Amino acid sequence: MNTKERVLALLTAGNGTHISGEALADELHVSRNAVWKAIKALRQEGWQITAATNRGYCLEAHNDVLSAQRILQLIGEPIDCDLPDIRLMPSAVSTNQTAKELAVSDAGHGTAVIAETQTGGRGRYARAFYSPAGGLYLSVILRPETLQLSQITAVTAFAAVAACEAIEAVSGFSPQIKWVNDLFLSGKKICGILTEAVTDIESGSIGWVVLGIGINVTAPPEGFPPELREIAGAVFPQAVPDARNRIAAELLRRLLPKAPPSVADVYAAYKSRMMLLGDTVTVQRGDISFRAVAEDIDSAGHLLLRLPDGTVQALSSGEIRILP
Ligand code: BTN
Repeated sequence: MNTKERVLALLTAGNGTHISGEALADELHVSRNAVWKAIKALRQEGWQITAATNRGYCLEAHNDVLSAQRILQLIGEPIDCDLPDIRLMPSAVSTNQTAKELAVSDAGHGTAVIAETQTGGRGRYARAFYSPAGGLYLSVILRPETLQLSQITAVTAFAAVAACEAIEAVSGFSPQIKWVNDLFLSGKKICGILTEAVTDIESGSIGWVVLGIGINVTAPPEGFPPELREIAGAVFPQAVPDARNRIAAELLRRLLPKAPPSVADVYAAYKSRMMLLGDTVTVQRGDISFRAVAEDIDSAGHLLLRLPDGTVQALSSGEIRILP
C-alpha cells in the first residue's frame, strides 16, 4: 500500500472522527508534507475529506467514491481467491455489454467492469434495469475450466449467494433470494443478477460467463420512479461511507475463489437463503399463471411446486410472485 492508500485506510477506520495530520504522519512513519500530498490526491479522486483547525482530517460520512484501488486494497492479498482486474467506468450503457465485448477480445478470468451508473442496464427478459448513482453495477468475466451448459443456472445461484453474503458482511442485513435470481430485503428487491455465457454447441462446454450484478446500495435521493416504488428497495436508506467499495470487494472475493464450491454446496447455501419456501405462490409463465406451493429446489436448481392436485412440477424457468 502506498501512503495515499494508507491515509485513506486510517481515515476510513476513523469512522467520521477527525485525525490530525501529525497523528497520521506518526502512524505511517512519513512526513506531514507526505500526508498533505496524499490528502490532496485523494480529494482529486473525489474523496470528501474536510480539515478542521486543531482537529485534523475527517472522511465525511456521505463519502461514496467508487475506487478500483480501494476495492483492491480491501480485498488485500488473499490466498483463496484470484485478484480481479477492475475496469471502473463513470458511466456505462451496460456493464454486461462492456464485459462481453472485453470477453470477445480475450479479456481474462476475473476482469470486472464496474460503473457508477448505467444508461441501458438490462435484466432478464431484456427488461430495463434502473441504474442511478448510488448503486453498484458490476459485471465479471469468468472462464471456468470445466463447466457444462447444463450447470449454468448453478453459476447464477452461486452469484446470488455471493451477493447475499457480501451485502450481509457490509450491512449486517440478511437479504433473501427469490428464485431465480432476485435478492430481497424487507420485502423489496435490492439486487438483480443477469448471467450471460458463450457455449460451444458441439461439446456443450462454456467458453466464458459474464455475471452481471446490480445492487441498489442506497436509494436515489429523489426516490425510485413511480413504476418501481412498490417493488424496489435499497440496502441502506442513505449513503454509507465506502459501502459500495466494501460490497464490491466482498463480492469479488466470493466470485473468484481458487477452489469453486460444488454444485451441491452452492444449492445448499442458496436454499438456506430462499424466500417463499412453503408458501403458496402465483407462478407466471408467459401468459399462463397458476397457484402452487413452492416446496423445494432440486439438485439442478429447479423450483419444485406442489400443485393443487397433489402432483409436483419442476420449474426450470419462469417467474414467481407472492400472492397478495
Ligand atoms: C434482473 O433483475 O432481471 C437482472 C438485473 C441485472 C442487472 C445487472 S447491473 C450490472 C449488469 N449490467 C446490466 O446491464 N445488467 C447487469
